[in-house]
Amino acid sequence: MSDKMENFDERIPEIVLNSGHKMPVVGLGCAGHPMPQVEQLESIFVDAMENGYRHFDTAACYGTEEALGKAVAKALEIGVIKSRDELFITSKLWCTEADHDLVHPALKQTLGKLGLEYLDLYLIHWPVRVKHGASTFNFAKDEILPFDIHGTWKAMEECSILGFTKSIGLSNFTCEKISKLLENATIPPVVNQVEMNVGWQQRKLVPFCKEKGIRVCAWSPLGAYGNSWGTNAVMENPILQELAASKSKTVAQVALRWIYQQGASLIVKSFNKERMKQNIQIFDWELTEEEMDRILQIPQSRGFGGDMFIHPTGPYKSVEELWDGDI
Ligand SMILES: NC(=O)c1ccc[n+]([C@@H]2O[C@H](COP(=O)([O-])OP(=O)(O)OC[C@H]3O[C@@H](n4cnc5c(N)ncnc54)[C@H](OP(=O)(O)O)[C@@H]3O)[C@@H](O)[C@H]2O)c1
Repeated sequence: MSDKMENFDERIPEIVLNSGHKMPVVGLGCAGHPMPQVEQLESIFVDAMENGYRHFDTAACYGTEEALGKAVAKALEIGVIKSRDELFITSKLWCTEADHDLVHPALKQTLGKLGLEYLDLYLIHWPVRVKHGASTFNFAKDEILPFDIHGTWKAMEECSILGFTKSIGLSNFTCEKISKLLENATIPPVVNQVEMNVGWQQRKLVPFCKEKGIRVCAWSPLGAYGNSWGTNAVMENPILQELAASKSKTVAQVALRWIYQQGASLIVKSFNKERMKQNIQIFDWELTEEEMDRILQIPQSRGFGGDMFIHPTGPYKSVEELWDGDI
């Protein structure tokens, strides 16, 4: 076993989810644009495992399930990990499959691409249903259909009971939608994965989820810096830049450490070896109360409004409706 592996437990702490399963608090994001070829991606994911990442966040719509599956097989073959159980693999149900009878087949397809027998976590990607068979991203607005929150969740519960995933959860759900889901749920969601960073601090959702025992997991923790859906609100924020300089840390490290100190988990994407290492060096130092107060001064706005799901005759007629006013 290499030094990196021996230090792994110290480097990325784990938390216990309400399902009883453990999840490393930092995961590697597996969405990006432009996307490297499968072989290159496979080696990026193996690099990440060599550097201590054990939690990987993919989705049916990212096109990275296959490469991640190959990386898992490779890591086992070359001894970076001894067993698949050392990993925490998340994937997500896309909107075109968000219908009770389509959930199980969609999960089976995901497992087939990954070459795995089970996921650690399966999430409903969005509280949105799009006509089955429609284009993943370029669907027509009239193909957006009413979302059956209870029926879709029931199918998620069935998948968990059958053992195809250890835990089930949500992504991009508001407090209102979670409350509605909990009215009928027999298995509560373990996680709600949402946009969260210093520029969109989720001040309503974080305490709500804490009270319900649901772990908030931050996507775009760096504001998706440099991505087509990204902003520079995090990486070029002057307060973060000052804090980073005064603490001899990088802006990214301060941004990620802030999320960790909010009691949330985070999924950060870097396909660059040095940056991926840097992004997990956030556990042996902290931000003081005064520094946290300065971050509270940062103006707030959502980076990704979800416009693609809005249509005047669809189930969500405005961005306000999609987010239940939390914008
Ligand atoms: N559930 C959802 O709806 C949803 C939505 C969006 C994203 N996600 C998940 O969350 C993950 C992360 O979010 P994200 O990809 O949107 O954004 P992000 O992690 O905030 O930012 C990624 C961008 O920042 C750059 N970067 C990473 N580390 C850096 C550092 N230390 N210094 C400077 N730049 C750095 C990356 O470039 P390099 O690769 O070149 O380093 C990449 O362009 C995704 O990959 C995906 O798994 C989920």
